[in-house]
Amino acid sequence: MAQDTHVLTRPPEGAGADWTIPQGWDAYTTAEHAIWDTLYARQLALLPGRASAAFLRGLDALRLSEAGIPNFEELSQRLMALTGWQVVAVPGLVPDDVFFDHLANRRFVAGNFIRRADQLDYLEEPDVFHDVFGHVPLLADPVFADYMAAYGRGGLRALDLGGEKYLKYLSRLYWYTVEFGLVEEGGALRIYGSGIVSSGAESVFALDDGSPNRIGFDLERVMRTEYRIDDFQQNYFVIPSFDELLRVTVETDFAPVYAAVAAQDTIRIADILPGDRVFTRGTQAYAQARAGAKLV
Ligand code: PHE
Ligand code: FE
Repeated sequence: MAQDTHVLTRPPEGAGADWTIPQGWDAYTTAEHAIWDTLYARQLALLPGRASAAFLRGLDALRLSEAGIPNFEELSQRLMALTGWQVVAVPGLVPDDVFFDHLANRRFVAGNFIRRADQLDYLEEPDVFHDVFGHVPLLADPVFADYMAAYGRGGLRALDLGGEKYLKYLSRLYWYTVEFGLVEEGGALRIYGSGIVSSGAESVFALDDGSPNRIGFDLERVMRTEYRIDDFQQNYFVIPSFDELLRVTVETDFAPVYAAVAAQDTIRIADILPGDRVFTRGTQAYAQARAGAKLV
């Protein structure tokens, strides 16, 4: 699930006040389960040696290799025993306060629909493969699980501090960590962001392509940087470890950071700044060959 713009302002028919709906696991067709299995097999062929160790451990611990779209109730039981998290279904993107409240209470909101067979490679809305395969394995890691809950509390606090006005900065943090983050492990880069690990093409691009920048994570730097939602990223930010990501974000009082970021210019999407720790200075050749970027 991306924390992003949303269309609905009230829970739709059939949704609870907290916007959750039944997953409707019994209603999935054989063909829909087969789409999950195809996507799963494709990613499993790519991810060893590319995905962070914690992500791969999570797949095993949650037994996500079992065939078919996972049943959220069974998945939640396993996850609850490991880190106290649950997975609940929602009908698409939900309002920010609802999203934050679920995270703060260790409920991960997931779409229940699965992409069509002709959308295996790319779709913009988060489906059950992105949400469950992409996000849930790391929720089995105690450190990352704490980070996601802290993020939810941080979102509620940001709303208290400034209403909507600081959410842009928090969304960039989410984007460049939870959705598209890289981590250094044993001297090599590994992918952990859900948007990367759930995409075959981006699992390769994010690590191997010469086009994007790869830059050391810095909280204020990330909060100032534009991102794109419609194509491969032009920047990836590299954390030294999940412990360090959790430590920095929990120990930092974001109130003065929001004020400082709001007073500074936005960093253009592919710019490299003098203070950056540059792992890769990207050529941006891929981005330049594609027209019509949507920047957020
Ligand atoms: N420390 C942040 C604050 O003061 C909260 C937060 C923690 C946000 C972890 C994101 C991730 O608001
Ligand atoms: Fe997501």
